[in-house]
Amino acid sequence: MKEWYDAIQKAQSVESLEEIRISVFGKKGVLAQEFAKMKTAPNENKAQIAKDLNTHKSALMNEFTAKKITLQTIELQIAMKAEAIDVSLFSAKSQSGALHPVMETMDKIVEYFSSMNFSVKTGGMVEDDFHNFEALNLPKYHPARDMQDTFYFKDEMLLRTHTSPVQIRTMLSTKPPIRMIAPGAVFRRDYDLTHTPMFHQVEGLLVDEKGKVSFANLKFILEDFLKYMFGDIEVRFRPSFFPFTEPSAEVDISCVFCEGNGCRVCSKTGWLEVLGCGIVDPNVFNAVKYENVSGYAFGLGVERFAMLIHQIGDLRSLFEGDIKLLEQFQ
Ligand code: PHE
Repeated sequence: MKEWYDAIQKAQSVESLEEIRISVFGKKGVLAQEFAKMKTAPNENKAQIAKDLNTHKSALMNEFTAKKITLQTIELQIAMKAEAIDVSLFSAKSQSGALHPVMETMDKIVEYFSSMNFSVKTGGMVEDDFHNFEALNLPKYHPARDMQDTFYFKDEMLLRTHTSPVQIRTMLSTKPPIRMIAPGAVFRRDYDLTHTPMFHQVEGLLVDEKGKVSFANLKFILEDFLKYMFGDIEVRFRPSFFPFTEPSAEVDISCVFCEGNGCRVCSKTGWLEVLGCGIVDPNVFNAVKYENVSGYAFGLGVERFAMLIHQIGDLRSLFEGDIKLLEQFQ
């Protein structure tokens, strides 16, 4: 029996201890064999043999249990050490995404007008001549229809050159009053420092009963909006021309680069042009069969806003997918 006490003592793992347990206590184990031998022993010895065997049995069981606890504790400690996470180690840097500066700027513009109760309308990027030009009082001979400016498909279909067709589609499908903006991508055959063939506009349109909408209303909301976007700046309105508004104006802000003192970006004028606007031309209302209404409209380029807010020199860099550039806007 002694060798089994030694075997238990020397066991190196819970697994080998288990093998010993089967060899000692199992159905065909040493103890079972010793008890079996008892049958052939002389009768007068049987009681003593049984007593001895039972003593060994419980003593071995005690040894076994104690050893098992010891080995389990050791194995647990080893496992914990192996699986431990060292929180002080450097980890692989995870990359987090961010909104593209153009989308971020678009969101901010939409946020302002939503807070002023303008609803957001969208339309298709492929338009027809009527919605993109004709209904907006841009007749057949108008220069904006030139092949130089517009991407044409067959059958007078084209890529919309501005988001203004969305105001036409909205007026054709909705009764006045209207208070909407239309954000989205537009397309023109242009490519230089400040122009890309695809860019984004936000169009605004407000229509109410005749006499209820004035240039003063338009001026108020655009000034408030531009201060929301650019902070403490000066705003000025310059007379201009758009076929779909009369009177029309272009709106400038004092240069955000030189605070109006004159620099390269504002061509030494101290002013930056940021949007176009005006009172909706009666011809536009005729085209959508609106009567006894008045309204104002405005349109702006989102990329231009993003460039001015983030002081980006070349518009094209926004579309090159350069991670190094985009990371700066995280
Ligand atoms: N659609 C004009 C453009 O693309 C912008 C604009 C919209 C001007 C509404 C006035 C009123 O240049």
